[in-house]
Amino acid sequence: MSTVLGFDVYGTLVDPFGMEKQLVARFGEHGPAICALWRQKQLEYSFRRGLMRRYEDFNACTMRALEFAAKAYQVELSAAAHQQLLTDYLNLPAFPDVLPALETLKESGFRLLAFSNGVEESLRTLLGNAGVLSCFDGVVSVDDIKTFKPDPEVYTYLVNRGGRTREDTWLVSSNPFDVIGAKAAHVRAVWVRRNSGAQFDPWEFEPDVVIGSLLELTTGLKT
Ligand code: 2OP
Repeated sequence: MSTVLGFDVYGTLVDPFGMEKQLVARFGEHGPAICALWRQKQLEYSFRRGLMRRYEDFNACTMRALEFAAKAYQVELSAAAHQQLLTDYLNLPAFPDVLPALETLKESGFRLLAFSNGVEESLRTLLGNAGVLSCFDGVVSVDDIKTFKPDPEVYTYLVNRGGRTREDTWLVSSNPFDVIGAKAAHVRAVWVRRNSGAQFDPWEFEPDVVIGSLLELTTGLKT
């Protein structure tokens, strides 16, 4: 029975800050700040919707967050520009370590799942455009159960969809909130700390493994 690795998508496999170029082209000097606020609000909206039990899918959170960020910086966001940026969001680049690491892990016999707040159809398009979809044995979207990370239910859903025990299922994520969510749901977790300046939240949970690149996973875990 192979070990299941559930990979977070946004921030772990693909880079949401890959939108910075398009945002600078449209909004000039405000581009980088709009990019950061867009991501921050996207996550905040998912957290709030989860807590409020007022589910609206991640595409909608992303759309509304972009609208908020543009308003916050008082830049004009036409309907056409809004739509184009959301289309560009389906073309976020994969981090350079992703493809070689996934290929090695797959060859070693791990069962690989993409596991995300994103809507399945968008995730398939995104991962296909990034050239990594074919590495995965499946795409697990929280949209199926209409709640968001870090609701403990989503980590149980990952375990169930992976078809292995909780002990044989790992979350792999760059997002500390996601790692903490998995640990709180008794799922083991790897924190991918590509940037040595990244901070882990000082809570009562810690990652089981910390790596600086997904390539380190290929030598560190048992199938
Ligand atoms: C994800 O892909 C939100 O980045 C997070 O689930």
